[in-house]
Amino acid sequence: MSDDAKKEIPSDDQLAEMDRDELLKLGGELDDVQLVEYDDPWPVKGTRAEKRAERAVAAWFTLAGLAGLAFVGVFIAWPWRYAPAHSDAHVLYLLYTPLLGLTLGLAIVGIGVGVVMYAKKFLPHEVAVQQRHEGRSPEIDRQTFVAHLADAGAVSGIARRSLIKRTALFGTGAFGLAVAALPLGSLIKNPHAESTTKDGLWHTGWLAPQGERVFMRRDTGDSHSIELVKPEDLDAGSMETVFPFHAPVTKSGEVDYAALDDILAGRKRVDPAELSEALTRSDNPVMLIRLRPEDGVKVVKAQNQEDFNYGDYYAYTKICSHLGCPTSLYEQRTNRILCPCHQSQFDALHYAKPIFGPATRKLAQLPIQVDARTGYFYATADFNEAVGPAFWERKS
Ligand code: FES
Repeated sequence: MSDDAKKEIPSDDQLAEMDRDELLKLGGELDDVQLVEYDDPWPVKGTRAEKRAERAVAAWFTLAGLAGLAFVGVFIAWPWRYAPAHSDAHVLYLLYTPLLGLTLGLAIVGIGVGVVMYAKKFLPHEVAVQQRHEGRSPEIDRQTFVAHLADAGAVSGIARRSLIKRTALFGTGAFGLAVAALPLGSLIKNPHAESTTKDGLWHTGWLAPQGERVFMRRDTGDSHSIELVKPEDLDAGSMETVFPFHAPVTKSGEVDYAALDDILAGRKRVDPAELSEALTRSDNPVMLIRLRPEDGVKVVKAQNQEDFNYGDYYAYTKICSHLGCPTSLYEQRTNRILCPCHQSQFDALHYAKPIFGPATRKLAQLPIQVDARTGYFYATADFNEAVGPAFWERKS
């Protein structure tokens, strides 16, 4: 209020007895507001044009509601897991993210346009001029302002526009549900549900349930092809990402080398789903690093991991111990492994312990050897700790 002294201010009792119209008038007077225009957009109620405008607003809120519900449906039920390019499910997989964006975008647009249309079509068309004043408004100003808002609502007829009220509730409710589904979705998921073992978060695809040999396989871009990795495939100071390949076994549990030869030569088929799963399971990727000889002599090994390497070859999980991004960057000159997500860095010469960034745990190391008969790398066991970020059951 700019100039209280010149204005007659009603007492609290008088204020309490005033109705909305009186408060509205008082508010204008106290604030030096001049209403140049204050037109009811629908002076004649219930016309066809008014009903048409009402339906248009309701249509946008309905669209927002349907899009919000569709978002929740897509988020919960759409097949989101990676499907290889040649499979039937690939197109559905490709549509997952665009559909999430489209449905959430439509929900936001629906609510936005609905609110703007309501304001344009139903709120009083007002042009007011007011002198500026400084500081927080006194109680009397706030009461009269609320009256002003209530009057705009009353003139717009919101109380009797049940179609708009219901659709606005539907639209904003479904949109709220969609927004809540994002953080809640990851909390109500059971991480153990798809695990093949009881303590699945502690194991990866490098586990050999029947004691079979698990070789290192490179990703050629074709999930059907199987190429195993030998020491001579890597130059000194280089890194390759590898995935597990479970070798066939004989009845006595030994590696079936004849069957393995047939598989590698393309004479014997392996279940394509199994091959694809090995490349897509999130905790499978491993960085096989070959240190330069001059760096190999500087290595400090972790306790209980003294024999995990094969000469200058070290295998670390590619899943960052901070939040699980792929730590894909190996810098040969400094022997640092970098995670691009939040810039954590791990020292490849010190059992991949974190030396920079938010990660606090080392990258899990995979124990490796070379198969004497074929010359291919294999993992002698699964990781000796869980890979990736922390989870509730994990103590360290
Ligand atoms: Fe690697 Fe955050 S996920 S630093």
